[in-house]
Amino acid sequence: MKHILITGGAGFIGSNFIHYILSKSTDIHITNLDALTYAGNPENLSNLELDPRYKFIHGNINKLQLLEDIFQETPIDHVIHFAAESHVDRSITDPLLFIQTNVLGTANLLLHAKRYWSRLDPQSKSSFRFLHISTDEVFGSLEVDEPAFTETTPYAPNSPYAASKAAGDHLVRSYFHTYGFPAIITNCSNNYGGYQYPEKLIPLVISNAVSGKPLPIYGDGKQIRDWLYVHDHCKALHTVLEQGTPGESYNIGGDNQPTNLEIVQMICNTLDEFLPKSEFVPHANLIDFVKDRPGHDRRYAMNTTKISRELGWQPVESLESGLRKTIRWYLDNKDWVNSTLGKEAHRNWLTQNYESREEEDK
Ligand code: NAD
Ligand code: TYD
Repeated sequence: MKHILITGGAGFIGSNFIHYILSKSTDIHITNLDALTYAGNPENLSNLELDPRYKFIHGNINKLQLLEDIFQETPIDHVIHFAAESHVDRSITDPLLFIQTNVLGTANLLLHAKRYWSRLDPQSKSSFRFLHISTDEVFGSLEVDEPAFTETTPYAPNSPYAASKAAGDHLVRSYFHTYGFPAIITNCSNNYGGYQYPEKLIPLVISNAVSGKPLPIYGDGKQIRDWLYVHDHCKALHTVLEQGTPGESYNIGGDNQPTNLEIVQMICNTLDEFLPKSEFVPHANLIDFVKDRPGHDRRYAMNTTKISRELGWQPVESLESGLRKTIRWYLDNKDWVNSTLGKEAHRNWLTQNYESREEEDK
């Protein structure tokens, strides 16, 4: 039986990962430590409440005594660190919160994990892994014709979110170099799929389109992201956990290059097909250009040669197949969607982020 401590497992990628890993392996036990911020939702894991392999701890990675107790009481084989403030737009309005969680929180977790690891017997010590989940945004922004980011691209974060993740990555790297602590970093591109909090682009556009609300496109909509279906990310993380080399980092991405406008149009076309009787067909009529995000990165793209060549990972879903699954998920999980959209934190965010954005000409 292997025991994994997961932080931030009630969020989008963490909850998908917990579902994925428990469906793949019967001999895994999970402890999920999550502060349940606006982005954490215990409903994402409600089907595991009675599963003896799963334990939830409601708590913050900045609570030192809590971390100490967890590492005293639980025999942990691996730590997977998802917990973070993850939304660029929120980092623009509240950058200090991002430093607290993504930098100090990571520092606290590293300190306690490393103390625990130092006490292990030699065999457990050598198989222990600390997997730190990071982002492509630490590398900054690319022009349209520039080559994709590799693992050796210098860090050049542009938003407070990206800077706080970069700082967390540097701390993780320093623990390997200073103490030999067996940490691995993964830098992944934009994920999409079920259980994503509906203030990120794809679930926001799906839920707004279904109810006939405007689909806000920042600036000219020509920004480019490298979208990856979340299950492909989960498979990559499992692969890196099992086969990755401590001290290394691995880029993960979907090899997609649509503009934001193109991806919103794809969602609209798929909704036209899935909901032909909707009064909002064609959904693309709802597209609404709004004021741009300050410092908006133009393009991200990941070179995934290393993880593919060394560990044999490749994404399974194309953007089209992944989007169809995702849209189907949001249409089929109305209870989850309505309960998330109905939360006060979500309504407050919509007011704060969109009411001040003026209309821009197309
Ligand atoms: P999310 O915002 O959906 O979830 C974050 C989770 O962390 C939530 O459950 C929240 O309650 C928890 N959390 C926040 N602060 C905490 C704290 N101080 N202590 C304990 N728990 C806390 O994020 P996500 O999209 O699932 O992203 C997970 C990780 O993957 C993050 O580290 C993010 O930087 C990284 N990442 C995300 C993407 C993406 O496209 N979503 C892409 C690449 C990397
Ligand atoms: P987002 O989902 O916030 O992820 P990230 O900022 O981490 O890439 O945004 C994805 C892209 O979509 C990004 O270029 C910003 C853009 N975007 C919009 O155009 N409108 C919106 O309402 C949102 C939330 C994002």
